Amino acid sequence: LCGCCTVLVDGQAVSGCLYFAVWADGKAVTTVEHLDADGRLSPVQEAFITCGAFQCGFCTPGFVLMTHELLKANPDPSDEDIRHYLSGNLCRCAAYPEIVAAVRQAAKAVGTKPAGTSAGR
Ligand code: FES
Repeated sequence: LCGCCTVLVDGQAVSGCLYFAVWADGKAVTTVEHLDADGRLSPVQEAFITCGAFQCGFCTPGFVLMTHELLKANPDPSDEDIRHYLSGNLCRCAAYPEIVAAVRQAAKAVGTKPAGTSAGR
């Protein structure tokens, strides 16, 4: 498993390559394409861009979705929390330091949003 195909099913991350489509019947499936709001990137997506948290970008959708799930469960993760939570996602380009920085930046951005908003839909 590499985590590149990560999607959220009812808000929980799953590996798309191991998840039968029929299991998603009646459930909310969120892909990276669903994270923008009103044409604006989510704070997590913005943080990945501003921190340069990718090179080829192949792994990025999976990391972004995992970060959304992480920040819902833990809005203020430590670097150790971030590394542990994202350990199932692989980046062949080894952009891990920038990815951790992006998650920290996203956590700050999400934490400063007005009450009632979240990292994703
Ligand atoms: Fe290339 Fe992660 S940016 S695999």
